[in-house]
Amino acid sequence: MKIKFIKSMYLLLIGSLFALVNCADPGDDTDIASSIGLGSPITSGAYDVTSSGFTASWTRVYKADSYELDISKDKNFETFLAGYQAKSLTTFNEEVYGLDETTDYFFRVRAVNSEETSSNSGVIQVTTLAGGGPEPVKALKDAATTFFVGMSVKADQLTSGSKYDEILKREFSSITAEYEMKMNIILPTKGNYDWSKSDAIVDYAIANGINVHGHALVWHNSVPDWLKNYTGTNAEFEQEVKDYITAVLTRYKGKVTSWDVVNEAINDAGGTLRQTVFSEKMGDNYVAKCFQFAREADPDVLLFYNDYSVTTNDTKQTAIFKLIDDMKTNNVPIDGIGFQMHIQYNSPSVNQMETAVNKALDRGLKLHFSELDVRANPNKDITTLTEERAIAQKNKIKEVVAVYNAIPQANKYAISVWGMKDNESWLLPFYDNYNEWPLLYDSNFEIKKAHTGFLEGLK
Ligand code: XIL
Repeated sequence: MKIKFIKSMYLLLIGSLFALVNCADPGDDTDIASSIGLGSPITSGAYDVTSSGFTASWTRVYKADSYELDISKDKNFETFLAGYQAKSLTTFNEEVYGLDETTDYFFRVRAVNSEETSSNSGVIQVTTLAGGGPEPVKALKDAATTFFVGMSVKADQLTSGSKYDEILKREFSSITAEYEMKMNIILPTKGNYDWSKSDAIVDYAIANGINVHGHALVWHNSVPDWLKNYTGTNAEFEQEVKDYITAVLTRYKGKVTSWDVVNEAINDAGGTLRQTVFSEKMGDNYVAKCFQFAREADPDVLLFYNDYSVTTNDTKQTAIFKLIDDMKTNNVPIDGIGFQMHIQYNSPSVNQMETAVNKALDRGLKLHFSELDVRANPNKDITTLTEERAIAQKNKIKEVVAVYNAIPQANKYAISVWGMKDNESWLLPFYDNYNEWPLLYDSNFEIKKAHTGFLEGLK
């Protein structure tokens, strides 16, 4: 007992001394650093070596603000790879690309702060692999074996033999109408259903063994004029909505697996319900009512609530899960939640995604990462998609897919991408920014690094 006590006093004393050193003012720290000298980073090796590149990595150095990376084909570093003579970096790794195959490269790193530059790390030698032509690219749907990989489509893209048709059949296991299964298209005037586009999309999916996710039964941005300016009573309005939901679900029973029943019901600020023609005429419980109508029309279809900024806007996230909790408390049928993944190359963080995902899992919901697109140029600071930004975009997609892939099988449904080609993304006109490349394919239907990121997220 006594020995134990003395031992803990001793530890306490040592601990306090250590704390004292650590608490010393910054001037003292600088003195310590300069007397000891800035340490060199440790390079442990290169990873992800391919025929045209590798990733150089090193350890963080205490008190370093940045690092200088040298890469050379010559072990004495008398010449340097273009751009890699003391390339300044604040990260601890660097993806190097555009290299020659079967060639030796050497790299070393120094730590830098405002006072000094460390001596060189050890030199790492990397030999790139033999080429043998480009590796065959795996199709997204073959790589993702535990959930659907979806794409938003327009009916006129689905002509047999079109480039869209070819890519859809090869890569995607699910489709969603980008706008042709919304109310303003299906029911443009009172009583006159137009199924031409929605049928074309559903028939295409069935003919090709592709899943259909229906989007969206009730959305304030796709209300046909006749309903927006409705002159009947509130009860009649509600009956119109019920009839619409019933007609759509009845027509596509057994053909459409899932529906976004209500889209974007929560405001961006304040955690309040968005005031729309639906809330105005049907009451604040209109969301629950629409889910009830849908369940009555089809007992088997999966019913989703879908919204944006779920991972990044905490107030909105709380309000959305409150809405869902209230529905569950009142036995309103809801199967899943869609996070519209209209995101950016630098946001959301993995942590933000996981927090939101866990809230869905806690409630036993199926989760749809719907409407994925990743803005590469949200601040309009580039005019072409630079390699650096393309890699950042790729890495963000990799994170998104890895987070999704890690959830339990029972909660998985799909990751759906919102558009095929960069130049056709809805985001370009929406943000009036035509220097934007948010998707997996470029304007020539060529696979981008973003596509590779999706595949890497599954590894
Ligand atoms: C967009 C489509 O991409 C556009 O083509 C259409 O004109 C408007 O709607 N959130 C949604 C989607 O839920 O339905 C929206 O799609 C994008 C934002």
